[in-house]
Amino acid sequence: MERIEIEKLLHKMTLKEKIGQLVQLTGDFFNDQPEIIETGPMKKLGFLEGQYDIYNTGSILNIVNTSEIKDIQRNYLEKNKNKIPLLFMADVIYGYKTIFPIPLAQTCSWNFEMIESSAAILAKECYETGLHVTFSPMVDIVRDPRWGRVMESPGEDTLLAKKYSESMVKGIQGEVSEDVIPEHKIASCVKHFAAYGAPRAGIEYGAVELSNDSLNNYYLPGYRSAIDAGVKMVMTAFNTLNGVPCTGNQWLNQTVLREKFGFSGVLIADYAAIEELKSHGYTETDIQSALKAIESTVDIDMKTSVYANHLAMLAQKNPVIEQLINQATTRVLQLKNDLGLFEDPYRNIETTRKSSILSAEHRQTSQKLAEESIVLLKNNGVLPLKQDQALSVVGPYGDEKNALGFWAITGDIEETITLKEGLVEKKDKMNWTINSSLGATFLDESEYQLFGKYERMFEKPHLSDEELLSDAIEKSKHSDTIILAMGESVYQSGEAGSRTSLSLHPNQLRLLKNLKKLNKKIVLILFSGRPLILEEIVDDVDAILYAWYPGNNGGMALANILTGEVNPSAKLSMTFPRSVGQIPIHYNINTTGRAIDKGNPYHRFSSRYIDAPNEPLYSFGYGLSYTNFTYSEFRISKNRMSEEESVVVSIQVENSGSLKGKEVVQLYINDVSSSIVRPVRELKDFVKIELAPGEKRTIAFVIDKEKLGYYNEIDNFVIEKGLFEIIIAKDSQDDRFVEKLYVE
Ligand code: BGC
Repeated sequence: MERIEIEKLLHKMTLKEKIGQLVQLTGDFFNDQPEIIETGPMKKLGFLEGQYDIYNTGSILNIVNTSEIKDIQRNYLEKNKNKIPLLFMADVIYGYKTIFPIPLAQTCSWNFEMIESSAAILAKECYETGLHVTFSPMVDIVRDPRWGRVMESPGEDTLLAKKYSESMVKGIQGEVSEDVIPEHKIASCVKHFAAYGAPRAGIEYGAVELSNDSLNNYYLPGYRSAIDAGVKMVMTAFNTLNGVPCTGNQWLNQTVLREKFGFSGVLIADYAAIEELKSHGYTETDIQSALKAIESTVDIDMKTSVYANHLAMLAQKNPVIEQLINQATTRVLQLKNDLGLFEDPYRNIETTRKSSILSAEHRQTSQKLAEESIVLLKNNGVLPLKQDQALSVVGPYGDEKNALGFWAITGDIEETITLKEGLVEKKDKMNWTINSSLGATFLDESEYQLFGKYERMFEKPHLSDEELLSDAIEKSKHSDTIILAMGESVYQSGEAGSRTSLSLHPNQLRLLKNLKKLNKKIVLILFSGRPLILEEIVDDVDAILYAWYPGNNGGMALANILTGEVNPSAKLSMTFPRSVGQIPIHYNINTTGRAIDKGNPYHRFSSRYIDAPNEPLYSFGYGLSYTNFTYSEFRISKNRMSEEESVVVSIQVENSGSLKGKEVVQLYINDVSSSIVRPVRELKDFVKIELAPGEKRTIAFVIDKEKLGYYNEIDNFVIEKGLFEIIIAKDSQDDRFVEKLYVE
């Protein structure tokens, strides 16, 4: 309907009806005789008796199947006086039924077109199911792998976060014209605003303290890209930011998000975050929490009774609050209108045939993305695997279907192709024999209880630890190559999955050390939601493939890489530390007054650890291929320019190996001196190219104001005159090609 109609509708609504639009509940409220306020979920959530009519509620969380969506909507519309349809929102983070690699893996592909295609499939499957909004993308920058939600993030780099943010929003929402979200698309929600990925010591829900420099230059741009791409919704973060909880932070939500970034859509509180303002020690009562949240332009209260219980009273006392409620309600109604719900509350689900969900084509796209996301970290020549040999597939991930990652809550683990299943597909063609053995468990039984409600998800094996180990040794004795698939259980990362130790579990380390004694080739395949500490095992194996959680077709993607049908091309989007002691760690650090002197590396008073190198084990941007790429002919068009000019840097890349392959050519810049010191280098651009053996290509990057500038202390985007270093590299530690550029 026309915008004017929304205004008319708002005019007709009572205050309580408007507030209802700002309340989000879960589906159980509508299933269990919801009218009875004294019992069930209404009581549990603390709704004041007789004060709230659930048939005014604006949206529903995490109901993810068509028949329930239809039933709840139909029943609701019969009872809702104004016939305003419900919005159905859910956490479809990296796939509805077709599950893609986890976001941290996806950004290792550096292939944002592919990421956009995955998001389009995600949206299509949601649309066909009847969902309206997904709480994706999550674009929290993270420099600390102890934090469990790294799996859901784009990693440590701002440029990758921006690109990820933009491609996800475009893929999910499509070409929005005149605010209308087209068919087969849904609304996207960027989260968690802001800086949720930087909790102190990596502990979930912990406080975040960041300088303006860090916020403006690294942490905020990812969210801003989503807003520039037209994202319809933003979610607040649970954490405090420099002492103020984000969900009640007027400066952050109104001044920065709405006024500076120009966001006019719906701002939703993260789960119960309005109520938690009290737990943070920011408010004393729920009334104050309601006030703080509405004053900071938070529109929807997810899963608490705070808005429902207290907003009306606040509005009756203060007309400004009533105005804020009107604005918030208008935004929610507008989103419903953008989705066409007033015309068709079911958005076609009545008639849509669910033909595309988990289709072969969708699975294929997921597989292709996995093939570009799996990182080859080490290879002493054992990969690709040769034909005519005996393989033993050992380890807890050898044949494990529960490998989709913590946030694949709408996916079905039975739909996973395991590593072993993938290899068996190749068996005849490669003339392999394959046996398999579990070898070790993820954790000890005594540890299961640490996982709260997920305790029941751990399966106790039928064999003892000793029996598991000897079975693996026995089977591997007769093989030529051991494919050892290990890692952390999916419950060890994701929300509230913070860890202090990032090593493989002792059971798995013991398995590896024992297999090593057999003197066989060992190919280690790691499944994980975060960078693990590999320092203690890297020398024990011949190759390492980091699979992350690679999605439904992960086993096929791995098998294709192992046979060499696919040449790995992924590059890390997050640094792999050597030890927990190096964390937080990221490539774009600021320099120090006392950097290590290469000629005198053990000088006492330099910026270094005395017990370990400063460098990580594998740095940001790193990843191997089965072929070689030779860089040469590095050129810059001129070494001096004015602020308004631009220069071109170029390099020739040649595939000097014998296999076709893809390479990510990376452009970094170092602003050598500036009013706020800049990092030793920052990624500013990249291209991913494919070259046949012997093929050469010249890659050129334009360097202009946008790439040279930064947000200064008063948050202006400036380019400061002086010296810059322009670096073309194959990873963030490569310093072979550096040119000077003076901005005059
Ligand atoms: C998470 C959000 C999620 C929400 C709704 C929260 O616990 O932090 O990322 O979207 O729950 O399920």
